[in-house]
Amino acid sequence: MPAGYKAVILSDSASGSARLRRTLLSSANVNVVDAVPLGPDTLTALRSREPNIIIVDAAWGSKADVELIRSIATVLPTSLIVLVAPDGDMEYAQQALLSGARGFVTQSSAESALVDALDQMLQLETSRRPRLPLDERSRAEAEGREGRLISIFSAKGGVGCTVIAVNLAVALRKHTEEAVCLFDCDLHFGNVAVLLNLWPQATLGELLPYADDLTPELVEEVMLTHNSGVRVLLPPTAFEEAEKVDPALVANVVEILKQRHKFVIADVGARLDSTALAILDSSFRIVLVTTPEVPALHNLRRMLQLTEDLGYPREKVAILGNRFSAGWGIQSTEIAETLGYPISVTLPSDGRLVTQAANRGVPFIIDAPRSAPARAVSELAKLIVESDREQEGPESPPARSRWLRS
Ligand SMILES: Nc1ncnc2c1ncn2[C@@H]1O[C@H](COP(=O)(O)OP(=O)(O)OP(=O)(O)O)[C@@H](O)[C@H]1O
Ligand SMILES: [Mg+2]
Repeated sequence: MPAGYKAVILSDSASGSARLRRTLLSSANVNVVDAVPLGPDTLTALRSREPNIIIVDAAWGSKADVELIRSIATVLPTSLIVLVAPDGDMEYAQQALLSGARGFVTQSSAESALVDALDQMLQLETSRRPRLPLDERSRAEAEGREGRLISIFSAKGGVGCTVIAVNLAVALRKHTEEAVCLFDCDLHFGNVAVLLNLWPQATLGELLPYADDLTPELVEEVMLTHNSGVRVLLPPTAFEEAEKVDPALVANVVEILKQRHKFVIADVGARLDSTALAILDSSFRIVLVTTPEVPALHNLRRMLQLTEDLGYPREKVAILGNRFSAGWGIQSTEIAETLGYPISVTLPSDGRLVTQAANRGVPFIIDAPRSAPARAVSELAKLIVESDREQEGPESPPARSRWLRS
């Protein structure tokens, strides 16, 4: 890792953070850029500073603080959390480590041991981090070759993410003829292969032994091609392999997919862990899928709040209403009014069409392009293409446009 890591001290004691700041003055690698107090805005404050290292001054150690460490580790998965633990409270230190802290020093040894401990942890991080061809990546970005990552996410399971992800990928391929890939991020119970009638002869699992030496060629080798032309990356077929996939591997795979495809569709589904957050962070757009019923809408509201807390711009998020009907369920205008967000696209419920498509392994966008669900997915694909062009075009209007229309 290069010199000059940004560190933030998290402490509710001004004298505690001043002491740690003084201690870190002797570090050649670490610059303390700020001290953040504990409070309701802690997470937002930490996120806005994008620190490489968060030093948690835990002289105040209590159970609630362990919860805070867990939230920080989830919201800032790539930051190194280091604890200055209260002397003699090993149980607290252990709980903090289990919640996502990567290491600790004790309060009394901090002055002499913190700088060395940080150096060792940073060295370890460097050797563990999969070696992404970063030069390649920045070159791709500079040349504007980086593809657009579109995440399909829902705050509640079973609302139609996979059906939409599969049909959207095929629709984008059909309408643009660009390189499109679909990444099934449901590591344990992914259904993309079934919906596309693909035999998982190669999967993400094959990349596990190469996690530290990932190359675009290796990723290419484990992708399959659907007859629509969409390239597909499937999750491991064995649960044991799925357990071994870590967030860094997924994040690096996603970056490589973006180098090679104009559109990358990630079927993230309803999980909100550090892997999902890393994918959402690096997304161009997030499609939040909901059905018109209170439990799904309740969770959607919480998810929208989280996207705001995470500092995502409004235009990054669009709501897709699935299984909406004019005759029953809560109506989209009412939902939009309550949430303060428009519903960008609605898909009607069509059990027969969607079930037959799933059973045959042929997306309805291929077999029934004129059906109402297929037209709605095509509309979503068009909105994505438009918002991509708006961002790239010289006289871009503000990116809200039709993407966020009601
Ligand atoms: N517009 C629709 N009309 C009728 N049935 C639908 C529609 N969309 C999805 N379904 C059905 O809803 C069920 C869930 O769909 P899907 O698997 O895509 O949801 P999911 O959000 O990916 O679920 P999971 O959380 O399990 O990953 C499936 O049985 C699917 O056939
Ligand atoms: Mg799914």
